[in-house]
Amino acid sequence: MTSLHERPAVGAVGEAIPHEGAALHVTGTALYTDDLGVKLSNLLHAWPLQAQHAHAKIVTLDSTPALKIPGVVRVLTAADVPGVNDSGVKHDEPLFPSEVMFYGQAVCWVLADTEDAARLGAEAVVVEYKPLAAVLTLQEAVEQESFQGSRPTMRRGDVQAGLAQAAHVFSGDFEFGGQEHFYLETNAALAYTDESGQMFIQSSTQHPSETQEIVAHVLGLPSSAVTVQCLRMGGGFGGKEMQPHGFAAVAALGATLTGRPVRLRLNRTQDLTMTGKRHPYLARWTVGFDDAGKVLALQAEVYSDGGWSLDLSEPVMARTLCHIDNAYFIPHVEVRGTVCRTNKTSQTAFRGFGGPQGMLMTEDILSRCAPKLGLEPEELRRRNFYQAGQTTPYGQPVKDADRIQSIWDALVTRSDYAARQTEVAAFNASSPHRKRGLAVTSVKFGISFNFTSYNQAGALVHVYKDGSVLINHGGTEMGQGLHTKMLQVAATALGVPLSAVRLAPTRTDKVPNTSATAASSGADLNGGAIQNACHQIRGRLSSVAAGRLGVHPDDVRFEAGRVFAIGHPENGLDFAALVLHAYMERTQLWAAGFYRTPGLHWDREAMQGEPFKYFAYGASVSEVEVDGFSGGYTLRRVDILHDVGDSLSPLIDLGQIEGGFVQGAGWLTLEDLRWDSSQGPNRGRLATQSASTYKLPSFGEMPEIFRVGLLERATETGVVYGSKAVGEPPIMLAISVREALRAAVGAFGPAGRSVELASPATPEAVFWALQEARQAQTVAADD
Ligand code: MTE
Ligand code: MOS
Repeated sequence: MTSLHERPAVGAVGEAIPHEGAALHVTGTALYTDDLGVKLSNLLHAWPLQAQHAHAKIVTLDSTPALKIPGVVRVLTAADVPGVNDSGVKHDEPLFPSEVMFYGQAVCWVLADTEDAARLGAEAVVVEYKPLAAVLTLQEAVEQESFQGSRPTMRRGDVQAGLAQAAHVFSGDFEFGGQEHFYLETNAALAYTDESGQMFIQSSTQHPSETQEIVAHVLGLPSSAVTVQCLRMGGGFGGKEMQPHGFAAVAALGATLTGRPVRLRLNRTQDLTMTGKRHPYLARWTVGFDDAGKVLALQAEVYSDGGWSLDLSEPVMARTLCHIDNAYFIPHVEVRGTVCRTNKTSQTAFRGFGGPQGMLMTEDILSRCAPKLGLEPEELRRRNFYQAGQTTPYGQPVKDADRIQSIWDALVTRSDYAARQTEVAAFNASSPHRKRGLAVTSVKFGISFNFTSYNQAGALVHVYKDGSVLINHGGTEMGQGLHTKMLQVAATALGVPLSAVRLAPTRTDKVPNTSATAASSGADLNGGAIQNACHQIRGRLSSVAAGRLGVHPDDVRFEAGRVFAIGHPENGLDFAALVLHAYMERTQLWAAGFYRTPGLHWDREAMQGEPFKYFAYGASVSEVEVDGFSGGYTLRRVDILHDVGDSLSPLIDLGQIEGGFVQGAGWLTLEDLRWDSSQGPNRGRLATQSASTYKLPSFGEMPEIFRVGLLERATETGVVYGSKAVGEPPIMLAISVREALRAAVGAFGPAGRSVELASPATPEAVFWALQEARQAQTVAADD
């Protein structure tokens, strides 16, 4: 069996096994980047001096007072950089800036024997600043046209003609908040040079190859002189796609200049104030519907807050534009995306990569317009679902479009939606101060990197003489279970038990030129590469076995550590015995595997093409109860049906769906980033810089009833063992929580009223929205 998607009858893929690191995680024995430095002698600690201006020129920087602090060894500044003083890929992110671009930006780094000494050293550095005007909010940026990067437009049809035909035309705007990654492990790097002067860096990075390239750049070295390893991350969520590079470069520069190992680990406040977050957005839209409630045209200006530098803001915007349709066919579209430059942290990738923002805009539009069209929001949604044969605004056929409707129908049935709607209405009729809301929303999310070149991966598989297997691949483990899935893929492809396979940490000297582990495609890409390597090895072993068993190589079977002729399992030999024979016959027992996703193309100027291999689908039903006195609410019940193809690892996928959903609910209902946008001395300071002021979802916010189902008979033929990516799509299932809150808020007011709800819909925001609903009710009663 050599096709990508077909599964053998026996194999480790599809088994519900725990995360490969679960026991280590829960016993505290799993090691993270910063733990690895403890064993090193002579270790130096790095500490940043963070500017307290949103925007300012650095007039002078005097580091001599720092050098007088006992234990301080060196202060790293721009003058120390042998290569390029830049930590990004757009050349707009000076590692040591001459102009401060956001409050909290590091202007220099102090190295010392202890962390305390480094901190005291940073406090002793004297910097003279010349403050400059700062742009803080999206509104300010739009007014001042403080933009960066390209301004792409996604177009289909003729939006003016579409609006002219429309029986109903509505306009509005919607500004909504970003999100802090709040991975449990903050950014960390550990660098040292070996005896031949090779730079070795342990980094908590989703993109080891790019970390390697940036470090090489900064040090003025070829990539081959720099090795980056990522053992595992305590969460990344997109926040470690680009942000780790600069920290790794600082550690590497320190190690180069001092000859000592250097550790750099941000504390929580440093991480919150220095690293980028999910982009907040502002959308101004006009939408037209026909009399049947079908969307005819959507025109929008979409602005994202990119912060001080571009990093991934352009591709994030591209994904926003590619997901503004979500699950709906919109014949005429014209949506322009603009990245604003503000004096804030450089906003970056975050689970969904801009897709959630695009989908949220359209879901918000539909819910606001439904009452104006005299329709229930779920009915309006249903009427606009993609049908088989339709294409997206960027010209890609919507593969398996019928799943949108079938998942929705199945979920509505299994969640008892109709009966619960009646119950909710009855509850609301008898409860003046507490109201319930029920909502269903759906998700369509494109899988693959928009940037076609990234859709490749490599792997290295070694079979040792004793039959044991060691695998290495280009993906990183951040808790999502990629390594678990890769072990299952290798065991299946070689026909050995899971226990025979071990996985080695991700390193750039094992598999080069890797893509970020991102776009949810880690398992698709690296799984393809591992399977490819294993199939090469198995092919060679088949020839050896065929000779021993007296059959054609095609008729040799590999199953659970046994190798036999088809139909004769009793006459086989052990995998390990076969491997030893193969070695004796001088057979190569290892292989490098490669995978590239076929059939993709994308024109980023025209915003047209087929950037995605397929779509992941899902739907969710949420029920909330809102307290009319405080705006506080509880999530009573959530039902989800999600499409992961044929799951590679059902427990892992379940965890991804539950975790993604809760993280999405956090973004939409709790997590509220506040920057000081006053004209006072703290202008630009992040006010929510700890867990006490930035509210994350916890057990208390978990739904009381949480039922997650995986779509059955969902084989995806273009993907390794028929599976689908799962990492990001579930975050957008949480839109139903926001819509349930909107429904509950609406129940405080007159029927059929369009409800506007801020995002995040914090209890405070919900309270103000329901106050408005109540006032509308009073006005209606007075009439
Ligand atoms: N799950 C956990 N536990 N931790 C994470 O950091 N990152 C998410 C998702 N799930 C993340 C996670 C993001 S942003 C992506 S793109 C995918 O995992 C990346 O991994 P994959 O491609 O292997 O799915
Ligand atoms: Mo995920 S935002 O693509 O790292």
